[in-house]
Amino acid sequence: MIEIRSITKQFQTATPLKDLSVTIHRGDVISVIGPSGTGKSTLIRCINLLDPPTSGQILFEGEDITAKGYDIKKARQKIGMVFQSFNLFGHLTVIENLMLAPMELKGKSRQEAYDKAMELLQRVGLREKALRYPDELSGGQKQRVAIARCLCMDPDVILLDEPTSALDPAMVSEVQAVIRDLSKSGKTMMIVTHEMNFARAISNRVFYMDQGGIYEEGTPEEIFDNPKKERTRRFIKRLKVFEKVIDGRDYDFIGFHAELDKYLMQNDVKPALKYRIRLSLEELLQQILFPEFEKPDIHVEVEYAAHDEKCRIAVTYRGKAFDINNTENELSLAMLKSTAENMAYSYCDDPEKTNRLEIDIRGGFEKITGGGVTFGSILKNT
Ligand SMILES: Nc1ncnc2c1ncn2[C@@H]1O[C@H](COP(=O)(O)OP(=O)(O)OP(=O)(O)O)[C@@H](O)[C@H]1O
Ligand SMILES: [Mg+2]
Repeated sequence: MIEIRSITKQFQTATPLKDLSVTIHRGDVISVIGPSGTGKSTLIRCINLLDPPTSGQILFEGEDITAKGYDIKKARQKIGMVFQSFNLFGHLTVIENLMLAPMELKGKSRQEAYDKAMELLQRVGLREKALRYPDELSGGQKQRVAIARCLCMDPDVILLDEPTSALDPAMVSEVQAVIRDLSKSGKTMMIVTHEMNFARAISNRVFYMDQGGIYEEGTPEEIFDNPKKERTRRFIKRLKVFEKVIDGRDYDFIGFHAELDKYLMQNDVKPALKYRIRLSLEELLQQILFPEFEKPDIHVEVEYAAHDEKCRIAVTYRGKAFDINNTENELSLAMLKSTAENMAYSYCDDPEKTNRLEIDIRGGFEKITGGGVTFGSILKNT
């Protein structure tokens, strides 16, 4: 359907795409992942001709849309785009936002454009917002409108550039639901996203971008579970494992927890488990370890395994041997134990002097109990 033939995109200071070739088939749902600055947005903008390639060709159904004199508007009608920041017209109502392009670019009558717009608003669950202005909508609603607006043009392909990354965590799932619904309808799509479980659920191909092109491609299972190349492996590990080093007395724990929340959200961790992970790290790091060491040097790894909904926390900390079972903070220890299925401690008395603690956080929804105290009530509201 779309054949990309050795395109290069050069900016004054960067060449994010070098001699990239790939074919997109009808019905493909492709997730594009990769480190920042590796040309994911650039690739999408090239395909849509928002930012045409410096050299190379893009063929759409056999027709070279990068050829001189090709009508860009024609390509844009076939290739729709959804941006991270919605890009709705603030001075127009929702329904006007949806009717504009079909009337201006496709010559649809007012009535036709209106009917189609209402049908699509219904599809994204926002029929009752037709007469509102974008400012009156939540981020998730705005993005659903932006998707409906894109669909109004009946595009053959939809390109989405991190459609949920500007949203509050609470709104991510409503937008994902709309995109999931689209992917099931057989629409050809390419979506830049780092939400692994979501990418797994919707796509048949994953492109990992790095080093000026598609560095590795495969099915979601191949890329997320068994990446072959070293860079892909490292990147996937970073998506899967949350890693932090706490290395000073003025450590920013608020930032730590914000990033942890983002990681847990990206991995779709259920609220009860999320709560236990947060609780155990707070008790362990802030209440037990941090006060014990004058110069904290603590390395934290959190890994969530989606297949069995379990979470493992590995913490290494340097200095004197310190088994947390000997802490004087009994309450925190009880809280921590109540979240854990297993805890294993070891100390390596080599020059590095490393303590290592591995904790398996309990899955499921049972009450948290420990040290004779019941914490079930804490969980109720999560
Ligand atoms: N309009 C532009 N002018 C100059 N350089 C640009 C332009 N757009 C992108 N670049 C550069 O091209 C490279 C790739 O950018 P791009 O936005 O495609 O990366 P990305 O993979 O989408 O990253 P992110 O994950 O941060 O969105 C970057 O080095 C960027 O600075
Ligand atoms: Mg980008």
